[in-house]
Amino acid sequence: MLDLIDKEKLPKHIAIIMDGNGRWAKERDKDRLFGHQHGVMSVREVVEGCSEIGIKYLTLYAFSTENWNRPENEVKGLMELLVATIRKEAESLSKNGVRLHVIGDMESLPEYCQVELQEAITMTEKNDQLHLVLALSYSSKWEILKAVKEIVGQVNRNELRVEDITEEVFRNHLTTKDIPDPELMIRTSGEHRISNFLLYQMAYAELYFTHTHWPDFRKKNLYEAILNFQNRERRFGKISEQLY
Ligand code: IPE
Ligand code: IPE
Ligand code: MG
Repeated sequence: MLDLIDKEKLPKHIAIIMDGNGRWAKERDKDRLFGHQHGVMSVREVVEGCSEIGIKYLTLYAFSTENWNRPENEVKGLMELLVATIRKEAESLSKNGVRLHVIGDMESLPEYCQVELQEAITMTEKNDQLHLVLALSYSSKWEILKAVKEIVGQVNRNELRVEDITEEVFRNHLTTKDIPDPELMIRTSGEHRISNFLLYQMAYAELYFTHTHWPDFRKKNLYEAILNFQNRERRFGKISEQLY
């Protein structure tokens, strides 16, 4: 599979909605948290897989704004799992040239999560082989509203004129400002929806859906998605004949 992938035509940025942990656990008569714990292995796999073939940006949707509405024990379990995982993996991420970023409302996370994340972000800040972006307490509606409020504030203070609001100005107010738009979006576990993820940034992303639940997702599933991506014609509004 790996030899079929054209290394010259890799998506620069892959974004993944890691879905299906709960269903995976339910199929095994286990608690939902058991599914989340097994999902960590898949995270390791895709991070390694992306590093190995030379993907530069990987964004993982780990916790949405709406996920705060889940039962309290699940939210608490997810936060604890996040901290335990970062603590365990930070060193090896750092050694392997991975730079960690977080997008989302970091301040809404429990204090101990923020501290752990900040440490890992600082520890890896010199790396640039693979940018690993965790979307935590993230939603596009939150992000876009935040951008609008900041821009309106600048206009009100006469720091910016309305006619100078370009796409570039707007994107500089998004949490992804230094990150190129995702070219490939993968969602596991069979749901065909975006669930408030990178709505603006995915304007031209190729969407790939698989029935595999997240805890079963391995490198070969990632490579399958990349191959599928490479066989698509991305026209960006033009017609086929203009592309070649
Ligand atoms: C994805 O799996 C993980 C998070 C949203 C945190 P789910 O927990 O959504 O699993 P399903 O969709 O209920 O199977
Ligand atoms: C999306 O999954 C959020 C994450 C994967 C973190 P959900 O399971 O929360 O999405 P819905 O509720 O099925 O749309
Ligand atoms: Mg789900």
